[in-house]
Amino acid sequence: MAEESATNPLREYFERNPGRLIDKWVHYFDVYHRHFQRFRGRAVTVLEIGVYHGGSLQMWRYDFGPQARIVGVDRNPRCATLAEPGIEIHIGDQADRGFLRRLKASAGPFDIVIDDGGHTMAQQIISLEELFDAVKPDGIYLVEDLHTSYWREYGGGYRHPFSFIELAKGLIDQLHAWHSRDGHSFLPTPFTQSVTGLHFYDSVLVIEKGPHPRPVQKRTGTPVFPD
Ligand SMILES: C[S@@+](CC[C@H](N)C(=O)[O-])C[C@H]1O[C@@H](n2cnc3c(N)ncnc32)[C@H](O)[C@@H]1O
Repeated sequence: MAEESATNPLREYFERNPGRLIDKWVHYFDVYHRHFQRFRGRAVTVLEIGVYHGGSLQMWRYDFGPQARIVGVDRNPRCATLAEPGIEIHIGDQADRGFLRRLKASAGPFDIVIDDGGHTMAQQIISLEELFDAVKPDGIYLVEDLHTSYWREYGGGYRHPFSFIELAKGLIDQLHAWHSRDGHSFLPTPFTQSVTGLHFYDSVLVIEKGPHPRPVQKRTGTPVFPD
């Protein structure tokens, strides 16, 4: 761990946490470090759904730096008191489409969205549907605690057709739609054209946005054998 902390500033902050309570699965820190490094020190806007005691918002502000604007969302009105310079809090329900639309109009667009809210299927799905287009073209949408997709009390269950993880498996198809040979039933969508990668980890999905035009195949070098 000592070695990991030394090379992962977020993990290091978490372990010595000088601020408010943070509640994270520890293996998430490798994921954050891998995908968020390129945003450090920039004037980014980061939205986290799920404020709780406010500690993770402080961690993001520390890690992304003084130019970063951190936006927290929680349905618990007590969280409103946790705002501080660089950290704003919006009170509302992540499953309320009207709230999310107002949120993105007033606080977006976002470089990074982190969904660490209530983790039910409806909450994760509605938040993705409403907030995905509020992520900047080179930004990231990250969903945590995907293991709830396997838990009935969260609306999931193994291979439950309406779980978030089943929706995420469908996104893998959309990522590959440029290669479709299935005519009208399988065509590139705005998602296909605006996402460069889907990264699945234990309980975390990272959707990396970027321009994704029709892929080009190319050959270089001298052939050795006839085709
Ligand atoms: C796991 S905690 C967040 C932990 C925090 N991000 C951290 O790392 O320390 C989940 C939070 O989501 C909030 N929450 C639950 N359901 C929600 C909903 N439907 N909309 C918004 N926030 C919700 C809870 O009030 C709670 O504060």
